[in-house]
Amino acid sequence: MDVPFISNWVLIRLSGFLAYFLFTFSISAGLLSRLAVFQKKRPLMNELHQTSGWAGVLTVIFHMILLWRDRFVTYTLGEIFIPFFSDHAPLASGIGTICFYLFLIVFVTSDFLMKRLGKNLWRKIHLLVIPAWIFMVLHGFLIGTDSNLPWAAFLYGGGVFLVVTIMSLRYLESYFNSLADKNDAKKTP
Ligand code: HEM
Repeated sequence: MDVPFISNWVLIRLSGFLAYFLFTFSISAGLLSRLAVFQKKRPLMNELHQTSGWAGVLTVIFHMILLWRDRFVTYTLGEIFIPFFSDHAPLASGIGTICFYLFLIVFVTSDFLMKRLGKNLWRKIHLLVIPAWIFMVLHGFLIGTDSNLPWAAFLYGGGVFLVVTIMSLRYLESYFNSLADKNDAKKTP
């Protein structure tokens, strides 16, 4: 499946990086939408969160089809879909497969099963997005040809910095809100 001038391997890597970008964007938008500063923009943020997440899922499916069709490093469908079953980089590939299932579960339950599952169970399942995202970073970093080069470290490090910063902001905001609630409760006779 070679496109003229672009080898299949380059496309595999590009689709991997695009999925990395889309999932990181999706998680960031989801986390930001809950911050007070974005309260008025919440519908837009939710739209961005869902659309980029689904675009990420489709991009990963493309990534996996390219791997399956590659002539140099051959992956069978079993090696792609059964974790740790592949001859090539079994650990990193297996982490990629688990990551795919986790993201798929999160987005399918959010768009099609949310009402049936109920808010509590849905929220618990939705938290799987955190291990999914960590597995994605590990997969890319471990399997990447250039992970030791500055540009790759910048891409992985940048994504991690962004998500950790937004999570910390969320934590701080809910911490200060709960302090304020406690103070209000003390003041009311
Ligand atoms: C949600 C699922 C996945 C995501 C987000 C993802 C992400 C990525 C990323 C970011 C890269 C670029 C690494 C680099 O070149 O620095 C990559 C490359 C790669 N991925 Fe995945 N991947 C996923 C699933 C899989 C699966 C299931 C397999 C195989 C079983 C796989 C095998 C590979 C291979 C062989 C490369 C090429 C590494 C290289 O030589 O540079 N990926 N992936």
